[in-house]
Amino acid sequence: MKVVEYDRYGGPEVIELREAPVPQPARGEVLVRVHAAALNPKDALVRAGKFKRLAGPDFPKRMGYDLAGEVAALGEGVRGLVVGQAVYGMIQSWTAGAFADYAAVPQSELAAAPKGLGHAEAAAIPLAALTALQALRDLARVGPGSSVVIHGASGGVGTLAVQIAKALGARVIALCGADSAALVRSLGADEVHDYRRTAPTQLSGHHQAFFDVFGNQYYRGVKHLLSARGTYVSTVPNARNIRDHLLTWLSLRRKARLVVVRSKRVDLETLAAWVAEGRLKPVIAARFPLAEVRQAHAMIQGKKTHGKIVLELG
Ligand SMILES: NC(=O)c1ccc[n+]([C@@H]2O[C@H](COP(=O)([O-])OP(=O)(O)OC[C@H]3O[C@@H](n4cnc5c(N)ncnc54)[C@H](OP(=O)(O)O)[C@@H]3O)[C@@H](O)[C@H]2O)c1
Repeated sequence: MKVVEYDRYGGPEVIELREAPVPQPARGEVLVRVHAAALNPKDALVRAGKFKRLAGPDFPKRMGYDLAGEVAALGEGVRGLVVGQAVYGMIQSWTAGAFADYAAVPQSELAAAPKGLGHAEAAAIPLAALTALQALRDLARVGPGSSVVIHGASGGVGTLAVQIAKALGARVIALCGADSAALVRSLGADEVHDYRRTAPTQLSGHHQAFFDVFGNQYYRGVKHLLSARGTYVSTVPNARNIRDHLLTWLSLRRKARLVVVRSKRVDLETLAAWVAEGRLKPVIAARFPLAEVRQAHAMIQGKKTHGKIVLELG
């Protein structure tokens, strides 16, 4: 089978497309014939060596966390899935491996693919949508009647976060570039601001959540925009965000949280149900064949993608 690997940290040029044996699913794992996989900034950050301790010392390393495809074989103990069934999910392990013809994935990190979507669209959902769901619903307790600010609303996470906030019943105030304002409005945002003209700190109101998807704000800078029990959620694990998360850990009032996405079947099922109800639809910015994975990496690290970048396999 074809698989994407690299032997050292560096730019997109370190990425190689190689042949490797098809993996055997271990106990509790599902062998997935991958038809599509999606990129995330994490792929480029890990490849560049930003998470060396977590990624471990061994090379070659594989790539890719988001995948969609069909069940090719079941490991011992797997129940509730059948060979040939369409599935989608996110690999939690730092060993990755979604950018390959086949991937062995724990059953707990997969769910039945959303009905009515192609493989590319299904692959575009997991990591980014799980991040938005866990940030908004679980950390910020967003629900019906909440008001939510989403900063970075036009990227992979943002385009899904806007729709997820609406599905949770919230009013959405979105910040994005002027070029993507129409897209973000079409996804359901109630107010759209150009972050180059309106600094996030200059917004008004008191909101249940400030979801800093892009990650260049900080808790104290936007605290005045939070309601009495509002939450600032960041995606970036830098020292300031970790400190604010810890300092407000026990706060019953305003707080800062750092989202760290977890692959969970029940959450994938929630997202698939919203897709089936017409409440969630991925935005695909670009599609590449697996052989052009270097170009896809160059694009994701440009931080200008409106929606998701997808790799299409056979
Ligand atoms: N902690 C976690 O578990 C977790 C999970 C997922 C993602 N993340 C992190 O979350 C961040 C966003 O991920 P993503 O997948 O959404 O990335 P992405 O798709 O690469 O984001 C691209 C978007 O960023 C926007 N952008 C660029 N400069 C901006 C600025 N100065 N202010 C506001 N927006 C700006 C662009 O909007 P315009 O073109 O409209 O300007 C573009 O739409 C990344 O840092 C990623 O590593 C963390």
